Amino acid sequence: MHTHALLSAACCLALPCASALHLREPRDASPRVVKFDLQRNEIRDKVAHDRNRLSRRADTVSTKIDNEGLLYTLNISIGTPPQGFMVAVDTGSSDLWVNAANSSLCERRSKPCDATGTYSANSSSTYNYVGGWFNVSYVDGSGAAGDYVTDTLRFGGETVEDFQFGVGYDSSSDQGIMGIGYPADEAQVTDADQRTYRNLPAQLVHNGVIQSSAYSLWLNDLDSSTGSLLFGGVDHSRYTGDLVTVPILRPESSSYSSFYVALTGVQLGDNEISQKGGPEVAVVLDSGTSFTYLPESMVASIYEAVGAEYSATEGVAFVPCSLADEQAKVTFYFESPARIDVAMSELVLDVGEPGGLGGAEVCLFGIVPSLGSGSLSLLGDTFLRSAYVVFDLDNNEISLAQSNFKAKKSEIAEIGTGDDAVPSATDADGSDATSAGPSSTDTGSDEDDGVGMLQPGMGGVLASLGLAGLGLLL
Ligand SMILES: *[C@@H]1O[C@H](CO)[C@@H](O)[C@H](O)[C@H]1NC(C)=O
Ligand SMILES: *[C@@H]1O[C@H](CO)[C@@H](O)[C@H](O)[C@H]1NC(C)=O
Ligand SMILES: *[C@@H]1O[C@H](CO)[C@@H](O)[C@H](O)[C@H]1NC(C)=O
Ligand SMILES: *[C@@H]1O[C@H](CO)[C@@H](O)[C@H](O)[C@H]1NC(C)=O
Repeated sequence: MHTHALLSAACCLALPCASALHLREPRDASPRVVKFDLQRNEIRDKVAHDRNRLSRRADTVSTKIDNEGLLYTLNISIGTPPQGFMVAVDTGSSDLWVNAANSSLCERRSKPCDATGTYSANSSSTYNYVGGWFNVSYVDGSGAAGDYVTDTLRFGGETVEDFQFGVGYDSSSDQGIMGIGYPADEAQVTDADQRTYRNLPAQLVHNGVIQSSAYSLWLNDLDSSTGSLLFGGVDHSRYTGDLVTVPILRPESSSYSSFYVALTGVQLGDNEISQKGGPEVAVVLDSGTSFTYLPESMVASIYEAVGAEYSATEGVAFVPCSLADEQAKVTFYFESPARIDVAMSELVLDVGEPGGLGGAEVCLFGIVPSLGSGSLSLLGDTFLRSAYVVFDLDNNEISLAQSNFKAKKSEIAEIGTGDDAVPSATDADGSDATSAGPSSTDTGSDEDDGVGMLQPGMGGVLASLGLAGLGLLL
């Protein structure tokens, strides 16, 4: 399942080809890891950005939101001589792809791909053609199609020769994606009935750069524009408390393909948000999605408690920005004792337009209902920023801890091999192999007894905002 939910990010940063490289962990005595610095894109020119938005259809607010700097990117280079790219990191898909220089999207007069990079096979002496069956589609309806090719990939001081990736001749996004999920979820497998190829985590293991197919993701808090992705290691300075390991859920009668874990409960202050007597919710940990998508009935309780106004047309919820100052937090429970607290300040997203109606500033809320036929529940960036997450693809486990936003000096330990490869992680209670999956997810019937525990006193103002009003605000 591809769970990338980002569209055309208006990245405003120029991309010099050669400087896509950075920190290399020294080899030998030091841990064998590869560290990527991640960057949250910022939008600089809000006026131009608003003009873009106004030219789009009314139901594409999510496009605009994604432009608001809620996308984590990393710098890589491909080819000989190197061509530079800024790609979005996505744990919800498994292919790397970049736009072709001559793609219909990139050739538009506004040159939308210039900031993020385009690939010209002709200009690379190390390019090789694999096949014309590259076609990836994401749950948000975006996608890319073209050729699978191989070429030299460089990042973080590492060089990977003959690395397979997709080239989009036809794509709906001006930014390439670095999918780092299970090989079983590669578009070549899911859409073209071919065998898996070694995607980035698999190739790094194959090349002996890291010991097992595992990496740690730390997005840092909303106030920070950088995070990191550490292949083959854990940085103990980046979390507080214990790193607790829970099993990745496997859909029945198929192999592990997405990062599903069991969400056993959600609490807002003293308010139990979980569906009464309902099943656990299978959620996907997905860095390629900006928001957190939970079953409708749970979200309704949360909205009632925080005074959020949901716009079904736009698929987002609005709250007064002052909600960010509330001390309450939303706690996500996994197999005990794994839990992550997400502070209100991390859930209230400033869309950058001051002075809404009645002088009240209106912000977006970071949790939205998982709608649509699949009702896929996703823990995206609004959740992930508060967590330190280790994805262990070899053991089919996720280790979670509360993010340490104040982290300074790194304490990196290598992830070895074997059952307990993630250093210092402890198993959750009864974390036996579980077989469950998306089909066992039940959004259930509504049980909306949310108590108005947070009363920012803005409900009236928000309720009075129709879609026309939102157009003014956003
Ligand atoms: C990626 O490249 C851009 C453009 O040069 C640069 O501004 C940015 O800092 C780089 N990001 C990282 C994480 O190195
Ligand atoms: C781009 O170039 C490739 C390779 O030459 C070609 O196959 C493809 O049709 C071109 N696409 C467009 C949109 O011109
Ligand atoms: C690549 O080179 C070939 C032959 O030199 C040419 O026909 C083709 O159009 C070029 N493709 C691109 C994308 O420039
Ligand atoms: C890619 O797949 C999508 C959905 O399966 C399909 O609609 C589209 O036509 C395909 N694109 C190409 C170029 O094959």
